[in-house]
Amino acid sequence: MAGELSPIDKAKFVAAKRAADLVEDGMQVGLGTGSTAAWLVRHLGERVRDSGLRIKGVPTSTRTAQLAHEAGIEVISLDEAKILNMTIDGADEFDGNLNLIKGGGGALLQEKIVAAASEDVVIIADAAKEVGTLGAFPLPIEVIQFGWTTTQMLVEELLVSTDVMGRKTTLRMNGDKPFVTDEGNFILDLHLSRIGNARQLAMALNQMPGVVENGLFIDLCDRVIIGYADGRVETRDIHEGTVSEAHINLVESDNLFSDL
Ligand code: A5P
Repeated sequence: MAGELSPIDKAKFVAAKRAADLVEDGMQVGLGTGSTAAWLVRHLGERVRDSGLRIKGVPTSTRTAQLAHEAGIEVISLDEAKILNMTIDGADEFDGNLNLIKGGGGALLQEKIVAAASEDVVIIADAAKEVGTLGAFPLPIEVIQFGWTTTQMLVEELLVSTDVMGRKTTLRMNGDKPFVTDEGNFILDLHLSRIGNARQLAMALNQMPGVVENGLFIDLCDRVIIGYADGRVETRDIHEGTVSEAHINLVESDNLFSDL
C-alpha cells in the first residue's frame, strides 16, 4: 500500500510521522491545515486509537476539525485551550531562518493565531518547500470583503516601494466565486517572485486597514522536519542550531495507509 503513494506523499507522510511521535500524553496540540498536516492528524489519530494517547487538539480550519473528529482526536477551541504545548503544521515555503510563507490552503489567519499561542511550533514539509529567499510561492494575505478592491489597490501601491521582484496581485477564486476563508474574508495572492525583506513587508502589510493578516510567519517556527520519499527525516532546530536525522520505516506504517 505504501508503494502506491507518490514520492511527495511519502515525504509528507514520514515528516508527519516523525512530528506525531514528538507529541506526549496530556498535551494540547495545534493541528495545522493542508495535505502534510492531514497526515499528521491521521498519525495522531492512530496513536489515540491504538496506544491510548490522550491529547486535546486545536484545529486551524473547519477541514482539519472534521479530519480530527474522524480520526478520534478530542477537539477543543483555542479559547478553551488558551496556550498550546505544541503546534504542528505544514508550510508553502521555509528559508534558512525558518521563516515561512503559509496560507496556500487559505487558513493562514487561524494558523498564525494558533502558532502564536504555542510554546513549540514544528513545521513539517517535503524538501521542495525549502528556498534561499521567500517569495516564489505567491504570498497570501487575508483581506476583509468590504472595499477589497481598494485594499488591493493600496497593497499594489505599497509594493512599488518594496524590495520585491514581482508586483501582480490576484483575488483567490473558488470556481467562479471568490474563495471565502473560515473567518468570512477574501484572500489576495501576491505574486512577488522574491521578497527582499520579509519582516518589513509583513509589518507594512499588517498596517493597512483592510488587511487582516499576511502569510509571512516570521520568528514563529522553532523546528522544521523535512521528509524524503525514502523514509529519511531531517529535523532542524533554529534555537539549538542542531540538525538530526532519523529513518521511518514506510512498510511498518501500512496500517494507516489501508485506513484511507
Ligand atoms: C494552509 O493554509 C497552508 O498554510 C498550509 O500549511 C500550506 O499550504 C502547506 O500545505 P501542504 O502541506 O498541502 O503543502
